Amino acid sequence: MKICCIGAGYVGGPTMAMIAKQCPDIPVHVVDLNRSRIDAWNSDSLPIYEPGLDEVVREARGRNLTFSTDVESAISEADMIFISVNTPTKTFGMGAGRAANLEFVEKCARQIATVASGHKIVVEKSTLPVRTAGAIKRILGSAGDGASFDVLSNPEFLAEGTAIDDLLDPDRVLIGGDSERAIDTLAAVYRRWIPEQKILTTNLWSSELSKLTANAFLAQRVSSINAISALCEATGADVDEVARAIGTDSRIGPKFLKSSVGFGGSCFQKDILNLVYLCEHFGLHEVAAYWEQVVVMNDYQKRRFAEKIVKTLFNTVSDKKISIWGWAFKKDTNDTRESAAIYVCRDLLREHARLHIYDPRVSRTQILKDLQTVMSDADGQLSPPDQRLIENHVTVASDCYASARDAHAIAVMTEWDEFKTLDYQKIYRAMPQPAFLFDGRNIVDRQALSEVGFEVHAIGKS
Ligand code: NAD
Ligand code: UGA
Repeated sequence: MKICCIGAGYVGGPTMAMIAKQCPDIPVHVVDLNRSRIDAWNSDSLPIYEPGLDEVVREARGRNLTFSTDVESAISEADMIFISVNTPTKTFGMGAGRAANLEFVEKCARQIATVASGHKIVVEKSTLPVRTAGAIKRILGSAGDGASFDVLSNPEFLAEGTAIDDLLDPDRVLIGGDSERAIDTLAAVYRRWIPEQKILTTNLWSSELSKLTANAFLAQRVSSINAISALCEATGADVDEVARAIGTDSRIGPKFLKSSVGFGGSCFQKDILNLVYLCEHFGLHEVAAYWEQVVVMNDYQKRRFAEKIVKTLFNTVSDKKISIWGWAFKKDTNDTRESAAIYVCRDLLREHARLHIYDPRVSRTQILKDLQTVMSDADGQLSPPDQRLIENHVTVASDCYASARDAHAIAVMTEWDEFKTLDYQKIYRAMPQPAFLFDGRNIVDRQALSEVGFEVHAIGKS
């Protein structure tokens, strides 16, 4: 048995590293077109930051885990091929802004069809619209050289920041397919470390749809509590108290009720929009509108946070220094895709604020790239005024203290643990008064900071 995975990203890399760790006798070859990413996987400085990942990669790399750009050889040698490439929202043509761009998945299927011989199991690891497996099967059907295929859906449920724990001990592994034999071959890989009862099998379409549905339900909880946070601010209720009160109802449960400046990450918005597009495609307009509201609410929450900063700072942030803590979309990852910080900072920059941004894991290059992208128009063009705003109004700081010195306000955008244990007396003394702190994650001790002298504004607290 030999495994190949096309796509060495946030999913392909950690997932295959875990399979290689748990199955030392199975050669696992991860391939990608992006040479610098592959070089990083082969170095001591992995392309993604994920707690515990270094150890897993170090154990298996060079033994039965290989990273390379040789896609063709990896496909031709493998018995099982995972497709783990990106499936971003389409930015052009039909379904732009909603549908998933399946270009990369289709290219993989065509390359497999061209290269393969003998029997291969092709596994969808990427998150895909329902019935994509049908299209993959048709493309693979054109393969020559006596090649034959089974197609399985095996969506990934790991969350970034906890990927290694999630892979070691997942709530479940989902395998959808119509060949018992193929399903059992893949299940046997997972059975090496995951109890049988956690391996769920379904038909192909249920598996594909379950992934989109799981992300939609998770994002919906965040938008639901964020909607309530606005009402808390208006009424004097405290969103954390409300979350605790409802979360103790065993039917609701306590997880994913943390109010925030808005959810980010590469998948929640993309997958909901994909679901919305699918519903519209099938004429289910009310269902589409229902799910789209989760994204609408999330945009509102991000916008509301930026507006709160401007209004509180006496309706102007022009030429005021604002210290931004955190750029990643959540703690313990260097991933910034769709991070709420990007949108809040865009809005503040358009108000001519001077931003001093600090994140313990995100590089200056990435922060500037994110701002350039979000401020560009649909054709990717950055206007000269916006270019000047980024050049003249954005500084990337080396730590929280440097970032907050002389700042009119601090905005906490990511819940990094280090933000909880800073010397807030020192930070306060280095700021002009009144010193404002906007907590977009509800992680600071509001009472203690108020005693220091800060005016603290937290999500869902009046
Ligand atoms: P990513 O962008 O980090 O990685 C995808 C990789 O695929 C890139 O490195 C790209 O160069 C490579 N690639 C694209 N086309 C290729 C081709 N034809 N041949 C070889 N390599 C190719 O994406 P990701 O975050 O790993 O997500 C991958 C899929 O997994 C998506 O469908 C996503 O929705 C899903 N997913 C992601 C997460 C997550 O936490 N990031 C979790 C669960 C599921
Ligand atoms: C999410 C899902 O949790 C994974 O199961 C799924 O596999 C993955 O998407 C995917 O398909 O990509 P991820 O986006 O990595 O994982 O991280 P989450 O922990 O889900 O957080 C997503 C966003 O919601 C973050 O910005 C986080 O800060 C925010 N969030 C989460 C809240 O604001 N409040 C919460 O209570 C939970």
